Amino acid sequence: MAKITLSCIKADVGGYVGHGDVHPEMLDLARELLGASSLLIDYHVTRVGDDINLILTHREGVDSPKIHGLAWETFKRVTEVAKRLKLYGAGQDLLVDAFAGNVRGLGPGVCEMEFEERPSEPVIVFMADKTEPGAWNLPLYKMFADPFNTPGLVIDNKMHKGFDFVVHNLKENTQIRMSCPEELYDLLMFIGAPHTYVIKEVYSRELGEIAASATTTKLALIAGRYVGKDDPSLIVRCQSGLPAVGEALEPFAWPHFVGGWMRGSHCGPLMPCTVEQARPSRLDGPPRVVALGFQIADGRLIGPRDLFADPSWDKAREMANEMAYIMRRHGPFEPHRLHLDEMEYTTMPEIMRRLAHRWQPIPEPGETAKELVASGRASATGDGSEVD
Ligand code: F6R
Ligand code: MG
Ligand code: MG
Repeated sequence: MAKITLSCIKADVGGYVGHGDVHPEMLDLARELLGASSLLIDYHVTRVGDDINLILTHREGVDSPKIHGLAWETFKRVTEVAKRLKLYGAGQDLLVDAFAGNVRGLGPGVCEMEFEERPSEPVIVFMADKTEPGAWNLPLYKMFADPFNTPGLVIDNKMHKGFDFVVHNLKENTQIRMSCPEELYDLLMFIGAPHTYVIKEVYSRELGEIAASATTTKLALIAGRYVGKDDPSLIVRCQSGLPAVGEALEPFAWPHFVGGWMRGSHCGPLMPCTVEQARPSRLDGPPRVVALGFQIADGRLIGPRDLFADPSWDKAREMANEMAYIMRRHGPFEPHRLHLDEMEYTTMPEIMRRLAHRWQPIPEPGETAKELVASGRASATGDGSEVD
């Protein structure tokens, strides 16, 4: 039987209201367009916050120009709805209007994998809003490398050999493959810096199969300026030598802090929630993650089951709210506000330029203000008022 490909292609092409949701007309049109395509075996259109996710099954393989073209065309057409309704940021993730066979590098995020369908093929599609691709580093590490999260690593023969991680350096555009458990500590050195290093894929060493694939698009790196957060998605295959559904979900029981939230410039907790609850409104957040489970049957998407729609996640949501309060208390201070290098919005260059002349050297011990001026290291008034 030919292999099937599962693709999740996502973009924010307009927010309702502000950056919190997608208008139902946009989703309806996306469904209509995908439904009319003969390329797909099946599809599911959903959203998290202001991001539309197109979950597609087909036999065209990964990086297929036809499939990427279909997604691109869908987002373009949906943008027209957003424009007509004057929704916020219409078309914001379609950065380059020059589709040439692949949506990578153009704005939309993509994660996809091709595999031979197993006798039973349970998968989870995780989708997040108000955060960045590195947000998956910690949960992927826990799912595939932490026995305190995933008992199967210890007690399942098919998992005991561990997993390989493919890590991208988003700033250098390079990648490395690392084998765990042997290289756990080396891996952590990189993925603990999630703004730069992100896990792209995970492979089972026993089965030689792909187990997870994540979006790694960094919009700011494509456009050279802030254009909206690169809210990420992630596909995880489950069971029979891969993490059980419950092991793949378990990392989200302990919400962790991620970069994103208001103006993509704040650190906040990643709250697991249902699709229905994924309409962030507190300071445009806090960041959300939803998890949709499907069984794949001959390429058909059986489902979804909204996996965080279970009272056992209430505590995690409560914890995330507590964490949000703790962070909010810091207002414009780090660690709530991201480090200067990671803020998506900043007034710093402008403020620096305006105040540059008022920055004066600190006198050496015993040095007077006069001597400082005489040495030529400071301006006469000391406050720079004669400059500019
Ligand atoms: C974060 C996000 C929002 C906006 C904020 C300001 O990813 O989408 O928090 O950054 O609402 O948006 P603008 O600058 O468009 O008014
Ligand atoms: Mg938006
Ligand atoms: Mg978004």
